[in-house]
Amino acid sequence: MAETGTNLKKAIALLTAGELVAIPTETVYGLAGNALNLSSVTKIFEVKGRPQFDPLIVHVPGFAAVELYAQNIPRQAKLLAERFWPGPLTLLLPKKKIIPDLVTAGLDTVGLRCPDHTLTHQLLTSIPFPLAAPSANPFGYVSPTRAEHVEEQLGDKIQYILDGGPCSIGVESTIIGFENEALVIYRLGGITQEQIESLIGETILRTHSSSNPKSPGQLESHYAPRKKVILGDLKEPLLGHQLQDTGILSFQHDFHSPFQFILSPTGQLDEAAQNLFSALRYLDKLPINTILAETVPDVGLGKAINDRLRRAAR
Ligand code: TXA
Ligand code: MG
Repeated sequence: MAETGTNLKKAIALLTAGELVAIPTETVYGLAGNALNLSSVTKIFEVKGRPQFDPLIVHVPGFAAVELYAQNIPRQAKLLAERFWPGPLTLLLPKKKIIPDLVTAGLDTVGLRCPDHTLTHQLLTSIPFPLAAPSANPFGYVSPTRAEHVEEQLGDKIQYILDGGPCSIGVESTIIGFENEALVIYRLGGITQEQIESLIGETILRTHSSSNPKSPGQLESHYAPRKKVILGDLKEPLLGHQLQDTGILSFQHDFHSPFQFILSPTGQLDEAAQNLFSALRYLDKLPINTILAETVPDVGLGKAINDRLRRAAR
């Protein structure tokens, strides 16, 4: 079993020795290791059961560090970081040699992000290397938003979980890249497309690519619980029916089912995002076969929530 706590010294010592530590961020918990150490990075892929074609995000303490690991940094990248860092935005930038090819799965770009979490910020400013960290879940499963989620699934594979409480955003970072003059969003997340566009103008949304995914978070089936998830209108099938064996994931409405999770009784998208992955994990453990879920309003953070629900339903 992993130890869970807030002992920064212990986290620093383990990471410095090349070991992995689960770390809190505002989006989801990460499975972190020294991004410049091949043996640590190899361990990340092993512990997560992640194929090595899927690149890792590298976490830095601030924009100053970006120049150490990336080059030819577009002007818009700096603008975005100034506005949204620390925060749930990952910038894909041309990588420098110091970043191992294993981290980027051979791609010539590296995903860089400065997370907005006090403990993890202290950690990042106390070590002389950046942290590669995918979400701390087995590959393909729902991301963890609490220390207990990490313990349940990776507790026997790592030594320490830095406990930063429940994640305040609850969905992963938005991933943005720069292709010639175009700004491309590869994953919808904690910073909305609207927020980005109001700062730097039009973006292209390219969050689906099943054949040759540039970003495997684009894989059709991802973020999925073990139970079958069906996405649709809840009112039709549920009115007048007592569906045994079926759990309900609703946005706002109370269906008075013994097996339900209401994401936000007051209809707030940020609360729904915070609860989303806990809800899927909760429903996955109930004695049911199927999870019936509904989409949320498709604006702002709602787009990221709906993206995760659709992938969970594949
Ligand atoms: O919010 C987050 O981003 C969390 C926390 C821990 O920071 N991390 C996270 O990592 O969600 P992960 O590995 O679960 O998802 C990262 C996604 C993957 O789909 C990966 O393919 C994509 O980012 N990615 C990373 N580097 C990339 C690159 N150079 N080019 C394209 N996609 C990249
Ligand atoms: Mg992930």
